[in-house]
Amino acid sequence: MALAPWRAPLARALHRNRSRPDSRYLQLATMDRDGYPANRTVVFRGFFESGDRPMLVSDTRSAKIEQIQANPAAEVCWYFAKTREQFRLRGELTVVTAETEPAELRLTREQLWHNLSDAARQQFTWPSPGQPRQEQGFAIAPPNSTQPPPHFCLILLEPNRVDYLALRGEPQDRIIYTRQGQDPWQAQGVNP
Ligand SMILES: Cc1cc2nc3c(=O)[nH]c(=O)nc-3n(C[C@H](O)[C@H](O)[C@H](O)COP(=O)(O)O)c2cc1C
Repeated sequence: MALAPWRAPLARALHRNRSRPDSRYLQLATMDRDGYPANRTVVFRGFFESGDRPMLVSDTRSAKIEQIQANPAAEVCWYFAKTREQFRLRGELTVVTAETEPAELRLTREQLWHNLSDAARQQFTWPSPGQPRQEQGFAIAPPNSTQPPPHFCLILLEPNRVDYLALRGEPQDRIIYTRQGQDPWQAQGVNP
């Protein structure tokens, strides 16, 4: 299946900014139970099956997972400092755990666990995120690299709107890509 039209500029931005580790950090905004946006930094973990769905990993015990389960609507905002480009990807999130169907999703979750550094895997041995801190409870040994703990999850974003802004150039370039259901993507240049 053909890639979405915003994938080429995003792939280019990832490539041109690859010398900067922070080019793989993006902000993920969800909605909380009180109607406030909840925004945090997460690491981009590639595209699911090299398609249009960015992958993230997280801990099902963190607040974002309850928020996503109540309302899967989300937006990620990604700024590439070297090339001065912003991508805002809006869409719906899916949380993948050991129980999720189909099997490809579970296998990808296991693969991402395996690919993490020991230090990153270690964080999943820590007590529940966001709970009051106790002095004890932070394990030293890194967990098994082939067996993710039940609270390790993959988060997939299925974008339905992408707002691309390139600051370089006079005037700047801004393109809104949208998609209704499974229809083809539409691209519209707009004023920056
Ligand atoms: C540079 C950076 C990268 C981070 N990467 C992740 C990540 O990949 N997954 C994640 O769940 N949290 C990540 N965090 C922590 C989140 O920003 C956040 O503090 C945590 O997930 C709890 O968020 P929540 O209470 O809204 O669920 C990262 C934080 C920073 C500063």
